[in-house]
Amino acid sequence: MKARKIKEDIFWVGAVDWDRRLFDSLIPLPDGTSYNSYLIKGSEKTALIDAVDPKMQETLFKKLENFEKIDYVIGNHGEQDHSGVIPHILNKYREAKLITSHSGRGIFSDHLHISEDRIVTVKDGETLSLGNKTLEFVYTPWVHWPETMSTYLREDKILFSCDFFGSHLATSDIFVSDIALVYEAAKRYYAEIMMPFRRVIKKNLERVQNLEIDFIAPSHGPIYDKPSFIVDAYRDWVLSNPKNIVVVPYISMHDSTKLMVEYLVNSLAEKEVKVYQFNLADTDIGKLAISLVDAATLVLGTPTVHFGPHPSAFYAAYLTNALRPKLKFASVIGSYGWGSKVVDQVSNMLSDLKVELIEPVMCKGLPDESDFQALERLAGSIKEKHVLNNIK
Ligand code: FEO
Repeated sequence: MKARKIKEDIFWVGAVDWDRRLFDSLIPLPDGTSYNSYLIKGSEKTALIDAVDPKMQETLFKKLENFEKIDYVIGNHGEQDHSGVIPHILNKYREAKLITSHSGRGIFSDHLHISEDRIVTVKDGETLSLGNKTLEFVYTPWVHWPETMSTYLREDKILFSCDFFGSHLATSDIFVSDIALVYEAAKRYYAEIMMPFRRVIKKNLERVQNLEIDFIAPSHGPIYDKPSFIVDAYRDWVLSNPKNIVVVPYISMHDSTKLMVEYLVNSLAEKEVKVYQFNLADTDIGKLAISLVDAATLVLGTPTVHFGPHPSAFYAAYLTNALRPKLKFASVIGSYGWGSKVVDQVSNMLSDLKVELIEPVMCKGLPDESDFQALERLAGSIKEKHVLNNIK
């Protein structure tokens, strides 16, 4: 296992995790992931940028065998998939210092118990000389923790962005080779991790666009040798208006809610509104998150369980509220046996979204003609609101 050269004296020393299928015991990883660590050999000093997940420690150490010293470990981010091995690196390379942002000091100390005397904090815009190479630290907070920063290698015009611009994608390629595949993985990653912090990310994008960048080297997924591809994608996801899309996550127990969902989805499609329908019984929650990036409207379909939404619908509402997509409208459809507080409970669960609630459709038992007419009116209202709000 050898370090792979990116440019003269710049190496990828990371690990590819082909088999991982879940991150944070929460996020599905259909394509695995990678933990990218980079080694920069300056004429005087050597720096390691981020590390790898603890279970990949041996892989990283094998790749570092041909490098006699490390002077600096750059901790762009304290989450363990990048930082978990750093205590072991500092133990092995006794002279090395951990370089991190001001808020990184507390994160590394709290989460990894790294002693204060091994940590050096840097300000936004501060530089560190490796001799013939210069690292500039660019604070890019909330992608997705408060301490996150990026490291810009001035002479080679490489931005090491850690989670920012990353993608959970296991690949043997160092650089992006399949644009469609990386786009999907990066959008999934943005939706699941970055989307709640859109306002800060907007500022981070402005900051990054002031730099002259040849490569963006994130800490998950391949390196972008055409940085505009991912910067433009982020600009679209963060800044664009929502599109003429309705997301319909639903679950059904005895098919009443399913019949309602199918009617609504067909009616919306006939009105030329794009729909993404997800059966929460077995859906990939990441696909649901991706669809929320561009959607204007959410319609949650749920039967009533003990007066409230089905637990799977409860989870979808909780997740949507937590991800804070650009949604403008929401509604609820579903069935109940004898009584229901679903609408109130779901409305409360979406309280962090600034959405307008469109008249829900709740039906007692099996839907009949009057319920389908109500669904037809709901589809018409959604279409009308999209048109009135110039949502295309
Ligand atoms: Fe890839 Fe926030 O860690």
